[in-house]
Amino acid sequence: MRNYLTPNFNFAPMIPDHALGSRVWDVNGQEFIDLAGGIAVNSLGHCHPLLIAALTKQAQKLWHISNIYTTEPAQALAQRLVENTFADQVFFCNSGAEANEAAFKLARKYARDHFGTESKKNEIIACVNGFHGRTLFTVSVGGQPKYSQDFAPLPEGIQHIAFNDVAAIEAAVTDKTCAVVIEPIQGESGVLPATGEFLQAARKICDFHQALLIFDEVQTGMGRTGSLFAYSQYGVIPDILSCAKALGCGIPIGAMLTNSRVGSSFTPGSHGSTFGGNPLACAVGCTAFDIINTPETLNHVVCQGEKLKTELCRIGAQTGVFTEVRGLGLLLGCVLADKYKGQAARLMQLSLQHGLLVLVAGSNVLRFAPSLLIDDDDLNQAMQRLQIAIQSFISE
Ligand SMILES: Cc1ncc(COP(=O)(O)O)c(C=O)c1O
Repeated sequence: MRNYLTPNFNFAPMIPDHALGSRVWDVNGQEFIDLAGGIAVNSLGHCHPLLIAALTKQAQKLWHISNIYTTEPAQALAQRLVENTFADQVFFCNSGAEANEAAFKLARKYARDHFGTESKKNEIIACVNGFHGRTLFTVSVGGQPKYSQDFAPLPEGIQHIAFNDVAAIEAAVTDKTCAVVIEPIQGESGVLPATGEFLQAARKICDFHQALLIFDEVQTGMGRTGSLFAYSQYGVIPDILSCAKALGCGIPIGAMLTNSRVGSSFTPGSHGSTFGGNPLACAVGCTAFDIINTPETLNHVVCQGEKLKTELCRIGAQTGVFTEVRGLGLLLGCVLADKYKGQAARLMQLSLQHGLLVLVAGSNVLRFAPSLLIDDDDLNQAMQRLQIAIQSFISE
């Protein structure tokens, strides 16, 4: 197939055509088991009947009307997010990067509103290897120079510290800091969970210097780790939380959640988005939320996450390909043994050849983010395919 798109993506050789639950078929009719979930987006699998019904119903009523008006679906989704989290207010946008962009802008404006421009309280502290999106501000806050260096000059006032380094965060945050941003699990760079001590230290030092704590839960949010948001598993409450990916389960939508003290700095006209809070996306988001935020689904995530982890550990021990399986719930990463360092992408290619969709997280970690509803049958067959892929990987 001829590619008419800009060459910034390295497309896989197979072209997906249709999908159902945890199965995907390509244009030639070959079937795949999906343990990638559209990079932690398709959290209710593909073509969930209740999501199709919600989308179809809303499609027949109102698609788009602009943010000159509010709509029932937008208020209904915001209400769900507020009533089930620390937040009092929600800003809707279309992606994780936009949710983070809103968070960073809000943090700077909040500091300016409360401490004045003279205070120069505008620094953002972020983590090495963090990932927050691809806008200029978010690649700059992200801690991977490979994503920002070609686009200089970059926004200023951003400092990076080592992830999970309590002493580093205590030293870095000062009265000039307006916000600290952390992913509870660093997803893109290796499925690396934050320690409880690190997040607690972040909360404490932010409070001391009146800086805001932002959790980027774009990847960990909406049930992925076994709770609605990972922050509740850590018992550390942020001032701002960004969310996207599984919020619409495949319909693009992002959200920035905050408390009313901070949110009040988003005065009329200070920020905006044409499509943010679009009724189609919010209607699907409401139905997705109601399915995800139930004890049945969240318990299922914990249970299937344990099964997947056990299987991956077993395969790792048997083959010597993985040294560690880490993550929470159904966001898991297998760290490749030294002998196979740098070859995660090759293992992903071989998995694809054997009918299995998986992800990488950096070059040394194979990542799994399947549907939160995945059943035993799909999991077991997926593990069989992975084992075959690993055999061909080892024998190369
Ligand atoms: C933690 C985190 N933040 C932000 C983003 C960016 O989200 P989006 O690609 O929707 O802009 C991602 C995407 O992978 C992510 O994992």
